[in-house]
Amino acid sequence: MGNVHVLDHPLIQHKLSYIRNKHTGTKEFRELVDEVAMLMAFEITRDLPLTETTIETPVTTANTKVLAGKKIGLIPILRAGLGMVDGMLKLIPAAKVGHVGLYRDPETLKPVEYYIKLPSDIEERELIVIDPMLATGGSANDAIQSLKKRGAKNIRLMCLIAAPEGVESVKQEHPDVDIYLAALDEKLDDHAYIVPGLGDAGDRLFGTK
Ligand code: PRP
Ligand code: URA
Repeated sequence: MGNVHVLDHPLIQHKLSYIRNKHTGTKEFRELVDEVAMLMAFEITRDLPLTETTIETPVTTANTKVLAGKKIGLIPILRAGLGMVDGMLKLIPAAKVGHVGLYRDPETLKPVEYYIKLPSDIEERELIVIDPMLATGGSANDAIQSLKKRGAKNIRLMCLIAAPEGVESVKQEHPDVDIYLAALDEKLDDHAYIVPGLGDAGDRLFGTK
């Protein structure tokens, strides 16, 4: 069964409070999401395998460790997921980036896929699906399903904020997927918005309404 990891590092929690605040404007919101994504990338990569190497320091020969070269793919769900990509690439610059375009139909609340473009070797990669919000879980479930249909084997999901309903739904549909969150909130409201949440992540990132 996939595990749920709430990344409660003080810097993440501090910045998340400003992200949630309705008085935080687009520029600052975008910068904070970028910073939190970078901090979350630090936590989510804790288990990357290392390999031994030998190097010359100015003093002596030393046996040290470097990343074993596990291939990573970042898969933002358009459009709000885009806001977290650059922050993650600051720490994982060699990652390839695929895109899944989904929007949530405001009437049915069901996700509608309109775009997909992925690295050619997704079956060999550790994929991290990125979306700031996990509300009903419909968008994340569809994106993960799309990746699996195309051969993906190792998938993690990273979100800023989730509702319990979304977490349960992903756990049911994709029990193999580990979920990484900055916060697990209280509930969904009648419009399937996360409470207390941060509002509409895409609109706040891109200044639309
Ligand atoms: C938001 C958010 C997630 C989705 C979460 O996207 O970024 O993708 O809703 O809701 P769910 O868990 O109930 O599916 P939205 O549909 O608003 O599209 P946008 O990113 O283009 O603004
Ligand atoms: N999408 C958002 O952007 N915010 C929510 O609270 C739920 C879905």
